[in-house]
Amino acid sequence: MTDRTVLITGANKSIGYETARQLGREGLRIWLGCRDAERGEAAAHRLAAEGVDVRMLLLDVTRDPSVRSAVARVEDEDGRLDLLINNAGIPGMQPILPSAQPLDDIRTVYETNVFAQIRMTQAFLPLLKEGLDARVVMVSSGLGSLGWLSDPANPHHAVNILGYNSSKTALNAVTLAFAKELAAFGIAVNAADPGYTATDFNGHSGYRTVEQAAAGIAWLATRAPGALTGRFYFEQQEVPW
Ligand SMILES: NC(=O)c1ccc[n+]([C@@H]2O[C@H](COP(=O)([O-])OP(=O)(O)OC[C@H]3O[C@@H](n4cnc5c(N)ncnc54)[C@H](OP(=O)(O)O)[C@@H]3O)[C@@H](O)[C@H]2O)c1
Repeated sequence: MTDRTVLITGANKSIGYETARQLGREGLRIWLGCRDAERGEAAAHRLAAEGVDVRMLLLDVTRDPSVRSAVARVEDEDGRLDLLINNAGIPGMQPILPSAQPLDDIRTVYETNVFAQIRMTQAFLPLLKEGLDARVVMVSSGLGSLGWLSDPANPHHAVNILGYNSSKTALNAVTLAFAKELAAFGIAVNAADPGYTATDFNGHSGYRTVEQAAAGIAWLATRAPGALTGRFYFEQQEVPW
């Protein structure tokens, strides 16, 4: 067992939940970030039944007061945070041509996929600075890789979703910016691509399992070399920005 703590956002189901489960089984203490108390408590209950040391943390990443309360509780109970996994994300309208996607929908996607990740990282930074071998993982997407999107030979090339793809490209840039600043504090910041995974996000059309998706995120959070920062990974392979 370890007393290392990890906060995972959007963790009541799917990739976030499975990441919590895998890290919990490794012995980490889990803060299960969930925006709905009932769904969150039910998820925490299931994890606790598997022996995971879990606390449900009510957290809507798009709302300042919710994030402030979450910071206050973690500070109160632990006084530090070792790992932050910014997993919560939304797809926006899909499939839709870039020329037809309403600006309001794109804004909504950016609120969750970009601004909320910045808000969370800024808000929890004082607690991460107190953390042991602190790390931040941004759950991005291969659809945010301009290297892949611009390569006609790559399968991601054909998936042209303006709001979602560009939000993850922006999140990649956010990852790099925080990585540069936080290196001075020994805090690693990396992005993970879980791959196309069967979840509610895509009506379960993905070909990967949540177990496979979470394994790559868990590796980056706990087992990747500590010196690795400002990088983008799918499983243990680097993805081009
Ligand atoms: N599935 C894929 O194929 C795939 C591929 C690449 C990247 N990703 C990324 O992986 C991450 C997880 O995706 P997923 O497939 O697990 O999605 P999902 O099944 O839709 O689950 C998303 C989770 O995020 C939560 N969430 C959404 N908005 C939130 C908010 N404002 N505050 C707090 N929690 C919020 C949801 O909570 P509720 O249950 O309350 O709605 C849910 O727990 C996302 O960032 C996604 O972009 C997914």
